[in-house]
Amino acid sequence: MNAAVRAAVRAAVYHGAEPWAIRSGYAGLLEGRIDPLTPRDVSNIIQRGGTILGTSRSKEFATDEGRAKAARILKDQGIDSLVIIGGNGSFRGAAALASEYDFKIAGIPGTIDNDIGGTHLTLGFDTAVNVAVDAIDRLRDTAASLDRIFVVEVMGRDCGALAVASAIAGGAEDFLIPEEDFDTEHLKNTVRVAAERGKKSMIIVVAEGDQSGGAHAVANLVRQAVDGDVRETVLGHVQRGGTPTAFDRILGSRMGVKAIAELAAGNSGFMVGFARGGPVETCALECSWQEPLPLDPELMRLREILAL
Ligand code: F6P
Repeated sequence: MNAAVRAAVRAAVYHGAEPWAIRSGYAGLLEGRIDPLTPRDVSNIIQRGGTILGTSRSKEFATDEGRAKAARILKDQGIDSLVIIGGNGSFRGAAALASEYDFKIAGIPGTIDNDIGGTHLTLGFDTAVNVAVDAIDRLRDTAASLDRIFVVEVMGRDCGALAVASAIAGGAEDFLIPEEDFDTEHLKNTVRVAAERGKKSMIIVVAEGDQSGGAHAVANLVRQAVDGDVRETVLGHVQRGGTPTAFDRILGSRMGVKAIAELAAGNSGFMVGFARGGPVETCALECSWQEPLPLDPELMRLREILAL
């Protein structure tokens, strides 16, 4: 998120606007916690996890009175446009504010769950996947050395994207996700078959929102299926922090700059995002003799703005 904040601030200055920070999300807005930001205020934050702005959940902002108060505070400060980093709940609140009080708004999708419609990728997902994969790699050392089975629970209340990505990248035997019906016998069979294939150590990834009930419940079922040393690990909020990956920093930079560019062009009520990525495809080997794709022109253009 900090990469997006930095990019939005510098892009705003680049477009001749005056960026302000709203501290602690909508709750902070309702307390009038707003202050000007300069490009220097966002120096040295691109490598930091979380958000320097703070964030919150606000019940008051969901009410008509709350939004009326927020609109008053913003108008008093001369603020006419908002960039919101968050999920669909945050965007709904912003959309209501925009339609009721005539503000311009832009959304930047940010969640480790990658569960926001309209974009293939959300900010923070790649970092969380890498944190989970790093943890799985570490657990694998014990799993392999001691012939153990590990059940690893990753975040994802309603969405299995984080579980699927970390299971595939972590080389797990199976993953359990909320999008699929949980089948006890299928799970037991998977570990039995893996054991019969000669696997002495295994990794099973389960999303926290899976119907199985999570790592503890799954570990107990695995114990019933095979004769092995089964352990469970819940990664929890570890996945929500730490140094963002290079990929997420670039994504945040691109999204921040794009959000401001669109606002500056007079657009409002949109979210920046990526179209769904296609499947892996093939082309004739001769394709490889052609010139490789040029460097991403959009990234090349960011250089000047982000250096402000
Ligand atoms: O929505 C992102 C998420 O990380 C979910 O995967 C998780 O269930 C939730 O946030 C945890 O939220 P909290 O910190 O409020 O318990």
